[in-house]
Amino acid sequence: MAPLIIDGKTVSAAVEAETVLRIAALLERGVTPGLAVVLVGEDPASQSYVKMKERDCERLGIRSFDARLPADITQERLNDVIDGFNADPHVHGILVQQPFPRHLDVESVVERISPAKDVDGFHPENLGKLMRGVPGHRACTPWGVMRMLDHYGLELSGKRAVVVGRSLLVGKPMGLMLLERNCTVTYCHSRTVDLPAVCREADILVAAIGRPKMIGAEYVREGAVVIDVGINRTEAGMVGDVDFDAVAPICSAITPVPGGVGPMTRAILMSNTVGAAEALTA
Ligand code: GUN
Repeated sequence: MAPLIIDGKTVSAAVEAETVLRIAALLERGVTPGLAVVLVGEDPASQSYVKMKERDCERLGIRSFDARLPADITQERLNDVIDGFNADPHVHGILVQQPFPRHLDVESVVERISPAKDVDGFHPENLGKLMRGVPGHRACTPWGVMRMLDHYGLELSGKRAVVVGRSLLVGKPMGLMLLERNCTVTYCHSRTVDLPAVCREADILVAAIGRPKMIGAEYVREGAVVIDVGINRTEAGMVGDVDFDAVAPICSAITPVPGGVGPMTRAILMSNTVGAAEALTA
């Protein structure tokens, strides 16, 4: 049987519809939500993400504040920019696009952002809240995956979830979110022995590796739910970490690339920004 295609465009539209209502309620009390996006350097992928975020803000009525900074900016100057946004009452969310140049210290940058404005959910305080299972800003991509699973009513409790990839942006928080929903979670990474066998245990398989079409049929158990977080630019266009054509006949549900997880991340970013505005102006 053909698998369920988990459609990121449908789910992100549902998230966006909620966000629009919440923005209207904020506007009624005289609050326009604001998002500051900081881009250091000229990485083309980052530039296109930032442009798309600006477009999202404009469409939804979120004010965007952008700082495009040179690749050789000093840590001190970047700190000043972040401090400025931290102090600005019109800015409710702050995002520093990653990756950024090596001479800058990621930890210092992330910790500089006010946790209340950290709509990426990468600040230690927000990651700590995730770990503790209390409300806080949640990382956009894995939170978007959770919203997709819930939108289609896919059962989580008691299921075996395997997360391939342990990045701080996706893999690590993804596993914690699945754990919070009572999945039995396994993290896999480049040192995992017999990765296909471990992946074949998954009821829910999340691929967040960054290697085009790495996950083939031998990684997937019959009837599994497969979530592809990969966005790999190849000569053949954008492809995921999952070999969709090989895996689709085996699984019960799958996210396509493009049109799967991708649209969710930005929709959740907008939602998190509105959440920050609500909390900061309550
Ligand atoms: N780079 C890739 N994904 C993300 C994200 O969600 N947030 C930030 N700040 N940078 C990213």
